[in-house]
Amino acid sequence: MARDYKIAVIEGDGIGPEIVDSALRVLSATARIYHLTIKAVKYTAGGAAIDQFGVPLPDKTLEGAKASDAVLLGAVGGPKWDDVAPELRPERALLGLRSALGLYSNLRPAVMYPELSEASPLKNTKPIDIMIVRELTGGIYFGERGSYDSDEDLSDGTPRGKVTFDTESYSEGEISRIVRQAFSIARSRKGHLTLVDKANVLATSREWRRIASEINADYPDVKLDCLYIDNAAMQLIARPYSFDTIVTSNMFGDILSDEAGQITGSIGMLPSASLGKPGTPGMYEPVHGSAPDIAGTGKANPIATILSSAMMLRLSLGEDKAAASIEKAVSQVISEGYRTTDIMIGKDYVKICNTDQMTDAVISKLK
Ligand code: IPM
Ligand code: MG
Repeated sequence: MARDYKIAVIEGDGIGPEIVDSALRVLSATARIYHLTIKAVKYTAGGAAIDQFGVPLPDKTLEGAKASDAVLLGAVGGPKWDDVAPELRPERALLGLRSALGLYSNLRPAVMYPELSEASPLKNTKPIDIMIVRELTGGIYFGERGSYDSDEDLSDGTPRGKVTFDTESYSEGEISRIVRQAFSIARSRKGHLTLVDKANVLATSREWRRIASEINADYPDVKLDCLYIDNAAMQLIARPYSFDTIVTSNMFGDILSDEAGQITGSIGMLPSASLGKPGTPGMYEPVHGSAPDIAGTGKANPIATILSSAMMLRLSLGEDKAAASIEKAVSQVISEGYRTTDIMIGKDYVKICNTDQMTDAVISKLK
């Protein structure tokens, strides 16, 4: 079988170009070892595309992404584009790609490396290994929104004026495909799935619960429990080690994945995969943002993007061994004490690295 792949690469803004460069260097070193050919074609999106073409997601980028085996993305956005119209914001590129590529399933593993446990704001916590499965193309992110003027008064007589709304809506099909995927991921892990919702208030959440308990019948070996989002946010801090796989809606997943990220020590370590139907290109990006404050300083931790490229090798290219090699190399550099400043925890044996040095360290451990 030809092991010849084409990936679309979107560097994006802020630290995006630096961390993507790191991941590409690691990928090409891995490709040499495993005899793969990975052709990386660069496309522009986000703030960079606004500056160059006046739109956050040029057609050429979308076409290029669709025609690839996978998309590797750095990060988009920054204060420079804070004042552009909402439909032209850099983030629209991300949402546009997710929607146009049908990437309904967002996998965000939050794993704590034992050596970094002191970087966690939670002291002395047991090992954390959570997989967040976030619905990515529905819910309030993509629901109907708008505003209208109302001349009615509120019940206390206050004039209403302009009324603005965003809508959370989910179809059965949207819920069941992500929930099924979460069940099968939970089955391949510790067999414990937590549905996070707000079923004490929201009708959509009650639908998630109904569908999840029905699907549970097809996965009798998986234990399903349900938590309200507010309680889940608290339990993640109180007992993070007791979670295995979490499935949740687009917005709750956005919030919980940042929280889970921080409790593992640094969001600079966390990769993600966004997947659609089998056989269509997935998109891989770090969970963190474009960190414009440290862009160009060499302080960016490239590991989240490097690990995202490992997820890409495994989930879109089917190159499990190459993926595992990158993941092992990262674990090894962490255990040998290589640290970028975000994961430095004040030990003298630490080897302080900039972005390039950390990348070189990972490359040197690839086998
Ligand atoms: C994320 C980000 C995005 C989201 C933003 C940049 C639109 O926070 O990927 O988690 O909310 O999905
Ligand atoms: Mg987010």
